[in-house]
Amino acid sequence: MFQIPRGTRDFASEEMQKRNYVEGLMRKTFQSFGYREVQTPTFENLELFTAKSGDTIIEELYSFKDKSERDLALRPELTAPVIRFYVEKLQMEPKPLKLFYFGNCYRYDRPQKGRYREFKQAGCEIIGTDTPEAYAELIALAYEILKNAGLKNIKLNIGNLTILSSLFASLKLSKDQQKYLTPLIDKSMFDDVQKALEDFGIAKSISEDFVQMLQNSDIKQLMKYMKDDENIKNEMAKQEEIMKLLKDSFKIKNCQLKMSIVRGLDYYTGVVFEIEAPSLGAEKQLCGGGAYELVKLFGGNQTPTAGFAIGFDRTLLALETENYKFPTFKLDVYVIPVNQEMVPKSLEIVQTLREQAINVDIDLLRRGIGKSLKYASSISSKRAIIVGPKELESQSVTIRDMKTGEQKTVKIKDIVEFLK
Ligand code: HAM
Repeated sequence: MFQIPRGTRDFASEEMQKRNYVEGLMRKTFQSFGYREVQTPTFENLELFTAKSGDTIIEELYSFKDKSERDLALRPELTAPVIRFYVEKLQMEPKPLKLFYFGNCYRYDRPQKGRYREFKQAGCEIIGTDTPEAYAELIALAYEILKNAGLKNIKLNIGNLTILSSLFASLKLSKDQQKYLTPLIDKSMFDDVQKALEDFGIAKSISEDFVQMLQNSDIKQLMKYMKDDENIKNEMAKQEEIMKLLKDSFKIKNCQLKMSIVRGLDYYTGVVFEIEAPSLGAEKQLCGGGAYELVKLFGGNQTPTAGFAIGFDRTLLALETENYKFPTFKLDVYVIPVNQEMVPKSLEIVQTLREQAINVDIDLLRRGIGKSLKYASSISSKRAIIVGPKELESQSVTIRDMKTGEQKTVKIKDIVEFLK
């Protein structure tokens, strides 16, 4: 017997019902912020993903050669593809360009709950602006999408890689030392960060202060550590303004400055953010994003870019842990021809109802009425239409309410009216 590949999933119809419902809500929120949907291919030239990160990323990719020996990869994310699309075809579009997407992504991760080898992202990119209001609106969009999808318990954390680098510089850490620390900070392994800093020869009092600051960041406290550098001062002022807009204009109360947000991907610069659902445990990160640079690397004219992606599958898991009540799909009508002669007329009725956007199914197994009614209730049909010879003589059918069992004789020409 064949088995599904490791880290992938099949979705039964109930699951697809939920997924389509949530996708619809997300799409609406993207559009309400003025974003427009785009789509890129599932696979790209491998180089698109190695250009920034180098060949080490290949280990995490599904990459392969096609029949003409081209190196290709299934996309692990959509930011590089969307920026490739922008540089190739959209550079002349009016700015800012606000693009959103849904798409399956592929990573050679170790599968576990909330982490898959094939998973879906809902994300967006904003191209051509780097004002604090653009970043605040972007972050607010990520938050609103998750709120509007029905999540109650989420936390927004905002960091800044320019400020973090400057903090590293104030400790006089080498590039290698920074590289060693970054993943530890990313995983919130603060004891290990502390230990590493001491190993690097940083005085205990300073390293303790630094680790403390990574955990509960405070702009005023951060200022103490900063070199007297105009760029950094501007970045701090910008960061403060973003936080203020989020709190005062977008009314997002539970957002926090957190200097330990470093993000896993190599293209980020400046503002970065993550949204988590604490209820999910280990794989609790629902969304990640920030400002990044890829346009020039891909051959385009320098312009600011930022974006985020939401883990679609994790959002569904989080909704389920919050016991979210998804609407269920119910068939409007199940049509039962009582014998074979009734089939052509029954199909005609089915066709008329479908033209009126009524969801209709019909017995295709030539089952008796009893079995057909049982089936209709097993698929949660709201009503059944029984087409029998006696009723047909007077151009009528019997309509049964599947919940109450109540039955009525209705003229064929009045069925649509009756159902509505
Ligand atoms: P990312 O943080 O790598 O960012 O992924 C975004 C989200 O995708 C994560 O927060 C997580 O919810 C979900 N995710 C990642 N890996 C998996 C997996 N193996 N299984 C299930 N869900 C997963 C990006 O991909 C960037 N492109 C985001 C971005 C857009 N930055 C700027 N623009």
